Amino acid sequence: MEVRIRVSWDRSLETGDPEIDEQHQELFRRIDQLMAATHDRRARAEVGRLLTFLGDYVVSHFEAEERIMVEAGYPAAPAHRAEHQHFVTEYGRLFQDYQADGPGSVFVIKFGNRVTAWLCEHICRTDRRLADYLATQRDHRDAHSGQ
Ligand SMILES: [Fe+2]
Repeated sequence: MEVRIRVSWDRSLETGDPEIDEQHQELFRRIDQLMAATHDRRARAEVGRLLTFLGDYVVSHFEAEERIMVEAGYPAAPAHRAEHQHFVTEYGRLFQDYQADGPGSVFVIKFGNRVTAWLCEHICRTDRRLADYLATQRDHRDAHSGQ
């Protein structure tokens, strides 16, 4: 059975922070590219490379968010960072599954479900809370600078 899981970012995942939202959109583009490659027999050789490509982006995106949190003095930063670390560990496990089993249906379903479910959950709750905090900080600053 061929499985083509389509993954796309939509407005319900918007946090309201332009930098974070742009990176989330790129994350979903890369996941979809990976899912497309697992579906296309000729592109399967690309799957390992795309997994690495996506994993690298995830890490740099998390680093960007963590930098933003530190700069903003975000009080919930440690818990947020812990969620990121948990995901990186989980991603490493999925990568091992891929190395052991290849890009077959089992891997695709597992990967598609776990990665997108985690991201949607994390974006909708944890990242949105961060974006709300950043918006409040901005309003506060604007009020003090008389804007
Ligand atoms: Fe995050």
